[in-house]
Amino acid sequence: MNLTDHKHMKIIKVKDKHEGAKKAFDLIKEALQNDAEVFGLATGSTPETLYKELRESDLDFTDKIAVNLDEYIGLSADHPQSYSTFMNDQLFKAKPFKETHIPDGLAEEQVETERYNAILDSNPIDVQILGIGTNAHIGFNEPGTPFDTDTHKVSLTDATIEANKHNFSSANDVPRFAYSMGIKSIMSAKKIILLAYGENKAEAIANTVNGPVTERVPSSILQKHPDVVLIVDEAAASKL
Ligand code: GLP
Repeated sequence: MNLTDHKHMKIIKVKDKHEGAKKAFDLIKEALQNDAEVFGLATGSTPETLYKELRESDLDFTDKIAVNLDEYIGLSADHPQSYSTFMNDQLFKAKPFKETHIPDGLAEEQVETERYNAILDSNPIDVQILGIGTNAHIGFNEPGTPFDTDTHKVSLTDATIEANKHNFSSANDVPRFAYSMGIKSIMSAKKIILLAYGENKAEAIANTVNGPVTERVPSSILQKHPDVVLIVDEAAASKL
């Protein structure tokens, strides 16, 4: 492992997603020791090794609050491919929280975005876990999303549908829309831990760290956050 400081970003290079999970786990444990209460959580395959570490640990979240980034529109919470089901299986069944919040994929747009923004307002996030899309999206904030958005309805790009289709029978079954926390909400988190593994994330990571801060690269805004830890394996770090 080695550490590099880049602007405010602390970059931790790890061997693989297992070592990455251990580093992220240590940061979460430290946050708990410092009385963190609200955890912003992410879906996708990237945080799976971290959730395994958490499931198998003795950490206690029963008086903590989880707020997830996003959910597909059109899927009910108990749909097998919903992010709600993912979170229950990956973490919440094994590690119950006092409260868990995920956007409701069946709710009407205005009602749901207002409801979720109110949840975020009353539960300021202490630690936000993030993955990253190959096009540098964070949450489901696709390239071009204004940096000052809060929770909103997203039209998923073809690249994202392609990248996420492995969880569905075919690309046609992937929902075209999602609700996502906005970039403004993500940037309000006190601490952000961004995880990225694999060669297909290398360009997004290079643009995140060294590229211009532009809405074309949603994750580039993280350069402006005071406490970001980037945990990357060698392949994801290969273009840094
Ligand atoms: C989805 C999620 C993101 C996630 C991204 C990458 O689009 N909404 O939160 O970071 O996928 O997924 P993976 O970790 O499977 O590469």
